[in-house]
Amino acid sequence: MQHRAIGIFDSGVGGLTVCKEIMRRLPGENLIYLGDTARVPYGTKSAETVEQYALDAADFLVEQGVKLLVVACNTASAVALPVLRERFQLPVIGVIEPGAQRAVESQNHRIGVIGTEGTVNSGRYEEAIRQLLPEARVFTVACPLFVPLAEEGWAEHEVARLTAQEYLQPLLAAQIDTLVLGCTHYPLLRKTLQQILGSKVLLVDSAEETACSVAALFREQGLERPEHGGQRSFYVTDVPTRFERVGRAFLGRDLTQVEQVRIG
Ligand code: DGL
Repeated sequence: MQHRAIGIFDSGVGGLTVCKEIMRRLPGENLIYLGDTARVPYGTKSAETVEQYALDAADFLVEQGVKLLVVACNTASAVALPVLRERFQLPVIGVIEPGAQRAVESQNHRIGVIGTEGTVNSGRYEEAIRQLLPEARVFTVACPLFVPLAEEGWAEHEVARLTAQEYLQPLLAAQIDTLVLGCTHYPLLRKTLQQILGSKVLLVDSAEETACSVAALFREQGLERPEHGGQRSFYVTDVPTRFERVGRAFLGRDLTQVEQVRIG
């Protein structure tokens, strides 16, 4: 069981931020990543559609014999975790609970959450945070333009700064002391966001927190692969060219031998 791969899926390149953190924390693990590039974005689609896409992606990974399923996409985590946990026997980790666990370390209990429209509309982050800290005040803002900005390589561009200023205005007014980056793409905008919010606001990176949760689960269940140098395979549902080019900044290293597959 330990030698089986971890299966990770996302709507496209964004989940590579989660993949990168898992590779950093658990370098010996074999990973299989699936980016559903033919059907991206998930963030603007209905919960029913995203749920079906998530089931298709998970079916593909489970067929590869993975030992754990990581739902790297915040939107898919927000709407599809219950159905995935019901359908499959293996452990399924999403990005929302790990992010919420860290967010409740907030001192003033005023927590901001930014994500796609789908994630914000689902109310899942509020729910997860309030379960852990009932007195928390949670302020959510959908920031759809951050996704194309990150993919364009403009995360620290003046355009990103102005966009962030506009989106974060209500969160500044709400005097949050913690902000959850509730979308795969947002870790790339960390510097820009921190500049606008000031250094006292804690930015919670759900990719980092999810990698910590995976490591903790493996320790608990003895699932960690003891060897060094895990193998990584990358699959996409559309032609790989754009994924390889854009994904580099998300993964922090070159992407080669990405294979196109059909799912669903
Ligand atoms: N991966 C998505 C998320 O984290 C962002 C991109 C999309 O909308 O598909 O919510």
